[in-house]
Amino acid sequence: MSQKLLEIKDLEIYFPENDFKALKSISFDINEGEILALVGESGSGKSLTAGAIIGLNPLNSVIQGQISYKGQELYPDYPEKLRGKHIAMIPQDTLSALNPVFRVGEQVYEALDIWRKDLSKEEKKAIVLKTFADVGIADPETCYQAYPHEISGGMRQRAMIAMAVINEPDIIIADEATTALDVTVQALILKLLKDLNKTILFITHDLGVVAEIADRVLVMRHGTILEEADVYSIFEKPEHDYTKELLASIPRI
Ligand SMILES: Nc1ncnc2c1ncn2[C@@H]1O[C@H](COP(=O)(O)OP(=O)(O)OP(=O)(O)O)[C@@H](O)[C@H]1O
Ligand SMILES: [Mg+2]
Repeated sequence: MSQKLLEIKDLEIYFPENDFKALKSISFDINEGEILALVGESGSGKSLTAGAIIGLNPLNSVIQGQISYKGQELYPDYPEKLRGKHIAMIPQDTLSALNPVFRVGEQVYEALDIWRKDLSKEEKKAIVLKTFADVGIADPETCYQAYPHEISGGMRQRAMIAMAVINEPDIIIADEATTALDVTVQALILKLLKDLNKTILFITHDLGVVAEIADRVLVMRHGTILEEADVYSIFEKPEHDYTKELLASIPRI
């Protein structure tokens, strides 16, 4: 039996200023070792859901409901020490996620350094270089020394994946992490994510990518979960018309 790592129950996010409920009482679990895809059109609430799990909610929002991680309630007082260590995030926009004035390697080093004061500088740098190699960066030392703009988008995404996995988190949240990449690079990064054998919440609006990577799928629309099924069922016998429409919109090549 697979263990539940995260349990989300009756999660609501409300914006009082415009009296708008962006998440309307959603509930789902994330099981250990699975890649769970969250799909849905723009504005359906995918990023808000991810933000709630990682404890970064818009300041103008009111959050209600329960999120528990390994049985521990995360709200109302989100334990900051989970973020980056137990729950990590791979961003979509790597150029704005990385600081342009610091070397890529130094930024990944910093992410490790926060949690590993017990290790020497040399040991930490060696871990960064090994992690770079693990995520398919061909020349780790050159990547370490480079500034973000000096490497390709695909390499930056690999570096961000290295940053996310370096503290050996239990869960990785990837919010449109491959959307900005061209299709060939995207395919390589998807394979890399799959081969990590980690628990991943994979957010995308692209059902083609879902077919590629996910074990299970949640279809979101207007702040609710419309449909929840394993990846085969979603493609073989989608229940909702909306899911059928999404499937019909996948470009065939
Ligand atoms: N800070 C905010 N203030 C007001 N409304 C917000 C705020 N953040 C998000 N929303 C609204 O909440 C809804 C869900 O937003 P969310 O960012 O989760 O969508 P999404 O599914 O991630 O979309 P996309 O695919 O475009 O990234 C949207 O209608 C959005 O306009
Ligand atoms: Mg989003």
